[in-house]
Amino acid sequence: METADNLKNYLEIATEAALGAGSLLQQYYWGNLSHVEEKGRSGDLVTNADRASEAVILEIIQRHFPDHSFLAEESGQQGKAEARYLWAIDPLDGTTNYAHQYPIYAVSIGLLIAGVPQVGVIYNPAREELFRAANGLGATYNRCPMQVSSTQQLEHSLLVTGFAYDRRETQDNNYAEFCHLTNLTQGVRRSGSAALDLADVAAGRVDGYWERGISPWDIAAGIVLVEQAGGIVTAYDGSPISLEQGRIVAANPLLHQQLTQALTNTPR
Ligand code: IPD
Ligand code: CA
Ligand code: CA
Repeated sequence: METADNLKNYLEIATEAALGAGSLLQQYYWGNLSHVEEKGRSGDLVTNADRASEAVILEIIQRHFPDHSFLAEESGQQGKAEARYLWAIDPLDGTTNYAHQYPIYAVSIGLLIAGVPQVGVIYNPAREELFRAANGLGATYNRCPMQVSSTQQLEHSLLVTGFAYDRRETQDNNYAEFCHLTNLTQGVRRSGSAALDLADVAAGRVDGYWERGISPWDIAAGIVLVEQAGGIVTAYDGSPISLEQGRIVAANPLLHQQLTQALTNTPR
């Protein structure tokens, strides 16, 4: 069991890293953005800003916790994957938006302790919005407590989702689910940043989120935010979330089961 003091310490260092990386992302956004490349799969971009942001985050966290392990989107695994402390880092979530100068993107830093996400910081530098949470310590938006929405019915809800980079190569591309949920709700948005989608569920701005083909660094921090803000996060069938499986449903507790049922019952 991790002490509250330890969790607060991890949260502070993650915050320092997220704010530092966010300020760097803003500098690149307004002047230094170059080297926009595809990472292999069509549409999966990486920029010099992704790499610079990741370097800053790793430098700060490694300086404080040299024994911890890391899973960062651009540089991969450092240290043992099964280590007690594993930081899951997305230095720029929403790269496609960023590369098009569409200002919805974020830094996402999560800490898994014994395999369970327990600390999460997501920072949206364009709007200076800081979302933070740690196990048992609650969730905050710009340092004020936040909680999930209280919408009770899917037909009154606003949801958000995303489409993974393999969407052209698989029939499991979330298009059927998107149409089905669009018919059942007041709307489904696609922001282009999974981290901000989860932060928005935690802040009660949207009522639920689902996505497939997602990676641990996209969701580790957001899971902590949603759970600490009173929401529920699972796999599509309602079973416990697995970071490796890449399927996630997050919603307020009143809607969560309605959302998993609608996903399971999507007509093909
Ligand atoms: C992507 C975004 C997007 C989601 C994709 C992610 P990236 O991350 O979170 O919203 O739909 O599945 O890969 O590439 O911008 O870090
Ligand atoms: Ca991402
Ligand atoms: Ca990224």
